[in-house]
This record gives sequence, C-alpha cells and structure tokens, in this order.
Amino acid sequence: MVITDRFTGTAVLLTGAGSGIGRATAVRLVAEGAHVFAVDADEAGLAGTVDAVSGAGHIVAHVADVSDEAAVVAAVDAAVADLGALDVLVNVAGIHRTTPIERLTVDDLRTLFDVNVVGTALFCREALRHLPEDGVIVNTASSSASHGNPFMTAYSATKGAVLAFSLSLASEVIGRGVRVLVVSPGSTATPLTAAVRFEGLDPAYYARIVSPMGTGKPEQIASTIAFAASRDASYLTGVDLRVDGGSHI
Ligand SMILES: NC(=O)c1ccc[n+]([C@@H]2O[C@H](COP(=O)([O-])OP(=O)(O)OC[C@H]3O[C@@H](n4cnc5c(N)ncnc54)[C@H](O)[C@@H]3O)[C@@H](O)[C@H]2O)c1
Repeated sequence: MVITDRFTGTAVLLTGAGSGIGRATAVRLVAEGAHVFAVDADEAGLAGTVDAVSGAGHIVAHVADVSDEAAVVAAVDAAVADLGALDVLVNVAGIHRTTPIERLTVDDLRTLFDVNVVGTALFCREALRHLPEDGVIVNTASSSASHGNPFMTAYSATKGAVLAFSLSLASEVIGRGVRVLVVSPGSTATPLTAAVRFEGLDPAYYARIVSPMGTGKPEQIASTIAFAASRDASYLTGVDLRVDGGSHI
C-alpha cells in the first residue's frame, strides 16, 4: 500500500468510523495527514478505531445516531468547533438486513431508510453549510444499488436512494465547486457481512456470482474513498465508483 500525504491538515468528518470500512477509512485518512472527526453510534467501536490509529495523527471520537436530526446538527457543529473547519464529509455509517420478500416489514423498510438514507442526507445538508469551494462529499452506496441481490430488496433500495440523492446533489452544488462522489463496495469482509444470512443459497456459490475476484477487504474500499476525497480526483464528481471485484462484468 502506498501512503501519501494528500490530506495534510484536511478536516474530515467521517461517519460509521467505529467498524469495518469506516475504521479502515479513518486509519487511511489519518495516515495521510487528515484530522478526523469520527462519528458512530457504537462508543466501543469508536474507541477501537482510536486505538487502531494509535497516535498516528489527530482523531476525535463522537458518539451519535446518524438518523437523529438533532444529533447530526450537533455532530457537525462539534466537528467544526474541534477541527476549526470542515473540508471533507465521508458518510459510511449504514446497516444491512436480509429478508425474503414475503417477510419484508414496514419496520425493515423504515429502519433501513432512516439510517442509510436519512442519515446520509442530513449529514450532507449540515456539512454543506461549512464546506469550502473545493469541499468534497463521499457517500457510501453499494453494488446492490445497481445490481440485483436476492433477499436484499429493502437494503438495495436504500443504496439506490443514496446513489440517486448523491448524483442530484452533485449537480446542485457543482457551481460552488463542491464535489460529490459515491463509492459502492461489493461484498467486503466486515462485521456487517459476517452477520448476513442468505436463506436457501449456497454461500460459496453466492460469493462467486457476487464478486468474481472474491470478497474485498475494508482497506480496498478505504483506499478508493481516500482517492475520491483527494485532489487526485479533482475532475471527478457525480460518479459511482464501484469497488466490487468485478461483480458488474
Ligand atoms: N461490507 C460490505 O460488503 C458492504 C457492501 C456494500 C456497501 N457497504 C456499506 O458500507 C458501509 C459500511 O459497512 P461495513 O461493512 O463497514 O459495516 P460495519 O457494520 O462494519 O460498520 C458500520 C458502522 O456504522 C455504524 N452505524 C450503524 N448505524 C448507525 C447509526 N444509526 N448511527 C451511527 N452509526 C451507525 C455501526 O455502529 C458501525 O460502526 C455501510 O453503509 C454499508 O451499507 C458494505
């Protein structure tokens, strides 16, 4: 892995920083010099991320539920107060549920949309009050936003919504110089995927059709998020960067 200094002094608010892809992103961004305001609902997870960064740079842990509007407003205010600015927002926080369509509930739908869509949208709205002309937003969708997956109707719908939201937001803020990108992971080895159960499907068969290159590592998603947020991607906005091990081939 090549680590550069693309984020020296850059103020980043990162949600979902307490586990998996968010933790790997925190480690990567801090290694490249970012000052990271790390948000998650899981206090112990955040503490683990602060440990993983292990004194390599500036990281502050902030416990908040991304689906709680008042908590989001407070988190963004606290980030700006702590970091002195806000240059980059990275929305990674998300939840997953697999449910056969016959058993899909309103609770499944509302809970998934509250965290994955409402949380992402609220952080974008609040961060845009502070982002500078060359500010960046990176939202995490999923390969399931544009690729069918059995038992994932509700989850996939939320990720399709994150993608559509982000493309429209990119066109809305392009005039002020803010870039908005989507990173769509394929199947990645994290606690989220470890908990997924695909009823009636052979997991080995499923892994092959979903990701011909095998399951991804959180660090492989984090490096793409870092690219999207960096000046290396300065001519990219309104795109979906699918990091999915070839699942769309
Ligand atoms: N792992 C995969 O295969 C995969 C594939 C495609 C997309 N994604 C997306 O990537 C993102 C990260 O997933 P991951 O695999 O690292 O999962 P993970 O479960 O390891 O991490 C998700 C983090 O989000 C936090 N979170 C959940 N609900 C929250 C809330 N209401 N408020 C604040 N924090 C909350 C959790 O506490 C956790 O720390 C998610 O948006 C997920 O949908 C993951």
